[in-house]
Amino acid sequence: MKKIVFLFVVVLLISSCSKSLSKEEKALYTEQGKVIAQATAKKLGGTLVKKMKEGGVKDALPFCNENAIPLTKEMSEKYNVTIKRTSHRLRNDENSPNEEEVRIINKYNTLFAEGKPMKPIVELDKSGKPHFYAPIKLQKKCLACHGKIGSEITVKSDSIIKSYYPNDLATGFKENDLRGIWSIAFESE
Ligand code: HEC
Repeated sequence: MKKIVFLFVVVLLISSCSKSLSKEEKALYTEQGKVIAQATAKKLGGTLVKKMKEGGVKDALPFCNENAIPLTKEMSEKYNVTIKRTSHRLRNDENSPNEEEVRIINKYNTLFAEGKPMKPIVELDKSGKPHFYAPIKLQKKCLACHGKIGSEITVKSDSIIKSYYPNDLATGFKENDLRGIWSIAFESE
């Protein structure tokens, strides 16, 4: 009897591991993921641009420091998903990538190096949740805080950045570089 139960569990495990999303489901989550990522980027970027205009990096940086994660959380609740921004060159340790995100970032880095398009990826994650990933590319307006120190990032701005993030790795990017990824977990299938 024990043997049968064991076999049953093994079969169940194998079948749940091999469960994958249909083409239609993938298309649906890709569309939803894009909408959520765009809305979150807009939410984060809107006030950021305003702060930059008002007081430059000295005002905008503390804003990001205090609000980036809470605003992302607010958007997660709105869409009933878990939204995260992560990167291979982190500014904030709290955005550290997990194993699956490292794999995706490596994938995008290879595509980027080969000059190939970096399309969104949808797959089931370890906990069986549909998961959306997409690249975050660096735009011109990001350079003041993620560009080259000494030119795009002034020495003064750099010292403000370092005062909040002494281990910052998120500088030296160029326009269109791969800055990081969106990682969005949906609640259910
Ligand atoms: C005013 C300075 C400033 C500007 C401009 C700025 N960022 Fe950031 N960025 C930050 C700070 C501060 C953090 C850390 C805040 C957090 O996410 O907790 C951060 C974090 C990030 C992260 C999360 C990963 C990590 O390294 O912690 C990504 C991705 C990112 N920025 C991309 C961008 C992109 C893309 C743009 C332009 C559209 C941009 N940033 C513009 C200051 C800035």
